[in-house]
Amino acid sequence: MANKVVAIDGPSASGKSTVAKRVAAALGFLYVDSGALYRAVTWKALQEKVSTSDASRVSILLQNLAITFYEKEGIVCFKIDDRELKNEIRAIEVNENVSKIAAMPEVRSQVVVWLRDMVRFGDLVMEGRDIATAVFPNAEHKFYLDASEEERAKRRFQEIHDGAEKITFTDVNESLKRRDAIDKGRKMDPLRMANGAVKIDTTGMNIDQVVQFIVDRLKACVF
Ligand code: DC
Repeated sequence: MANKVVAIDGPSASGKSTVAKRVAAALGFLYVDSGALYRAVTWKALQEKVSTSDASRVSILLQNLAITFYEKEGIVCFKIDDRELKNEIRAIEVNENVSKIAAMPEVRSQVVVWLRDMVRFGDLVMEGRDIATAVFPNAEHKFYLDASEEERAKRRFQEIHDGAEKITFTDVNESLKRRDAIDKGRKMDPLRMANGAVKIDTTGMNIDQVVQFIVDRLKACVF
């Protein structure tokens, strides 16, 4: 039987990553952070001083990218040039450029191929923006997480504040809005809720409640 995919989409700071990781652990599925791939391409472009607005140069960079995939501790991971990327793909410069890179059709087509191929590792919980609409439109289980703009900005501010970076709440709010606008407005596979997806407004919910809601729903299905 084909390996199963649980798709979890939603905007930045909607709680997807934490929820998806916990749902994967509860089900014994592997976790996939699809945004990390867009971030890695962005990081590599910045490293190589390739303009993140120059689609043809980014495309060449992509063709020459040495990327390998492997499973580690319940996560499908990757290496670029034999190097595991950690905090570097969460840097402010990457945050500010990744939506532009993720809007490039050449980049999206390649990342979708990488993501689809990951089912060879096992059953997956994959989170992103287009998992249920474009990567696995036939996934049986689709969730769309959202939260009010204010709540999402508060969460992101808290995260950044914990990392001790100096940035104001207004900056965080504006940056989120900019990224939302690009993610929702791009031509290819914009962020939107897929047909048949279950929408969860996580405003006022804690992580445990969201995880429980999803796990209960999945366990109620013949899975
Ligand atoms: O979830 P994240 O913040 O790590 O995502 C980084 C960027 O990649 C963000 O601009 C949205 C984009 N992205 C996407 O377009 N499609 C995905 N499946 C995942 C992320």
